[in-house]
Amino acid sequence: MDLPLVGLGTWQLKGKACTKAVLEAIEIGYRHIDTAHIYENHKDVGKGIKEFDRENLFLTSKISLDQVNPSKVEESVEKACNLALKELGTDYIDLYLIHWPDRKFPLVKIFQAMEKLASKGKILQAGVSNFTIHHLQDLLEAGCKPKANQVEFHPHLYQKDLLEFCHKEKIKLISFRSLGKGQLLNEPVFEKIGLKHDKSAAQVILRWLIQKKIPVIPKASSLEHLKENIDIFDFSLTESEMKKLDSLNMDKRFCMPDEPEFNY
Ligand SMILES: NC(=O)c1ccc[n+]([C@@H]2O[C@H](COP(=O)([O-])OP(=O)(O)OC[C@H]3O[C@@H](n4cnc5c(N)ncnc54)[C@H](OP(=O)(O)O)[C@@H]3O)[C@@H](O)[C@H]2O)c1
Repeated sequence: MDLPLVGLGTWQLKGKACTKAVLEAIEIGYRHIDTAHIYENHKDVGKGIKEFDRENLFLTSKISLDQVNPSKVEESVEKACNLALKELGTDYIDLYLIHWPDRKFPLVKIFQAMEKLASKGKILQAGVSNFTIHHLQDLLEAGCKPKANQVEFHPHLYQKDLLEFCHKEKIKLISFRSLGKGQLLNEPVFEKIGLKHDKSAAQVILRWLIQKKIPVIPKASSLEHLKENIDIFDFSLTESEMKKLDSLNMDKRFCMPDEPEFNY
């Protein structure tokens, strides 16, 4: 299935709270669940999805580089994927990402090992996360074609060049931390625009993204937030409201702002 525009992010959701959020999300229409090895919640996500028709669900997970043995890349990547499949209780992962770039690791070889997983049917698509244009160029020059790049992207981190590059190369850019971990919601500008549409600040930010055709994966633990975040298909931001949000970029990262790979 195609990557849905709205999915559920599950970082910091664990145990019964995670399973409950996944179950409730599916119940109200979410069809994309985003997880990762380092979230330590594969089993909890697995419990939430097990009764649901797998073909109508899009699952994203991520391999951590600390799962990769640089002298046995192919073997260790497959081992990490097998573990994720077992924990999630599924036969395949729709989208499997390299969680963070670190050029001390053989990223091309790792990506090629992930493409092998796709040829075996263990994953449907191989992608990356937190890659800059230069990291992507390195892969492309080596003949690798990531299907997606999941990055921090919101009005204070409007990564326009990266978005254009991804579109040009047909790499799907996915926004994470779209709400700035909730911190963006305190800013009056979003609430003010929302009032005109009878929508919340969160809905305005998420709408800005999906109106740019960027899939989002906001994390929410309450049913109220889950419902709010998917209820964004019955209104549109005007051209001037879109421009207003476009103008709010501050190159501000809420996620690992000091990570040196972002300067590559
Ligand atoms: N690839 C990566 O390196 C990477 C890095 C970070 C995140 N991610 C993924 O992206 C997902 C989302 O990012 P995130 O969890 O960091 O932050 P986020 O989605 O920007 O924000 C989540 C926070 O916003 C609150 N919230 C959600 N909906 C709300 C609403 N409608 N109104 C008010 N508050 C609302 C949540 O509260 P409640 O929980 O109380 O509902 C939570 O505290 C993660 O869960 C993860 O799956 C990926």
